[in-house]
Amino acid sequence: MTDASGIPQSVPQAISPDLDPEARAFRESLNGPFAEHVAIIMDGNGRWAQERGWLRVRGHKEGMESVRHITTAAAELGVKSLTLYAFSRENWKRPDLEVTALMRLLRLFLRRERKTMMNNGIRLLAIGRMEDLPRFAQRALEETIALTAGNTKMTLRLALSYGGRTEIADAVLKVSRDIAAGRLKEEDVSEETLRGYLYDPTTPDPDLVIRTAGEMRLSNFLLWQASYAEFYVTDDCWPDFRREQFELALRAYAGRKRKFGGLPQQDTDAANTSPANSGGGSAEPATGQAPGTPGRPKRGAQSA
Ligand code: FPP
Repeated sequence: MTDASGIPQSVPQAISPDLDPEARAFRESLNGPFAEHVAIIMDGNGRWAQERGWLRVRGHKEGMESVRHITTAAAELGVKSLTLYAFSRENWKRPDLEVTALMRLLRLFLRRERKTMMNNGIRLLAIGRMEDLPRFAQRALEETIALTAGNTKMTLRLALSYGGRTEIADAVLKVSRDIAAGRLKEEDVSEETLRGYLYDPTTPDPDLVIRTAGEMRLSNFLLWQASYAEFYVTDDCWPDFRREQFELALRAYAGRKRKFGGLPQQDTDAANTSPANSGGGSAEPATGQAPGTPGRPKRGAQSA
């Protein structure tokens, strides 16, 4: 939904009657919009283990438990799309032992949690360069993706061998090939066309990007999709990030005012009805443009 200026508005989402009483009580207590599309940069596994004098791999193993907890909690709370940064293209630079351990954990997770996914109506998808993964991990992914294809409650996307810049570069390459082959006209290339060439064009723009372990970086994650996501950083390392911490992040989101480069609704209303602008109290934007029409920047549109 957009307001008169074409700015997407957060509307109070209907709470599904299927939610359990605890989830419903949490949703009702939010007093603000619910983040239906959440993406998470799961950081701090290594630090969590090292702080305890353990090997880094133990942190990843405990991190896998957090993946299970958060995936289940998200589905129970009514999140529609959860995207987890599980392995970046840059992560290939880690020692072979750690990379192999991560790939094995991925397979273990996929096999062990199929039942959880089926019980919670979770559909699994993956984004990234799947061809980089070892065959055993690809197979486990393909099997779980096929098994869960009919589930509709929540979509869990695992970003694997993923990089936001690579995703955009891969998309541009596909666009150029389609133009060269006459399948796409140059004048038809737009933001929305390009989106259709991303790894999974159905990936919704995240409302909220959460990063654990305190770093204030996007680290090449969902560069296209997260343009206007709200960002939430916690000092908790990923293995310590469970339902309670997730609910804190959702609560913080509910208190945010999203502007998408424009003005919040009440300020837009005030601007349109202020004496300087009052040409008869019209609810139309001051420029007289149709809602959402790109053109002359409106007042305040430069601030992001
Ligand atoms: C970042 O912690 C985390 C990763 C590179 C991998 C994330 C993997 C998991 C959560 C476990 C397995 C995943 C699935 C989907 C089953 P880090 O090692 O960079 O931590 P550090 O910054 O403290 O070193």
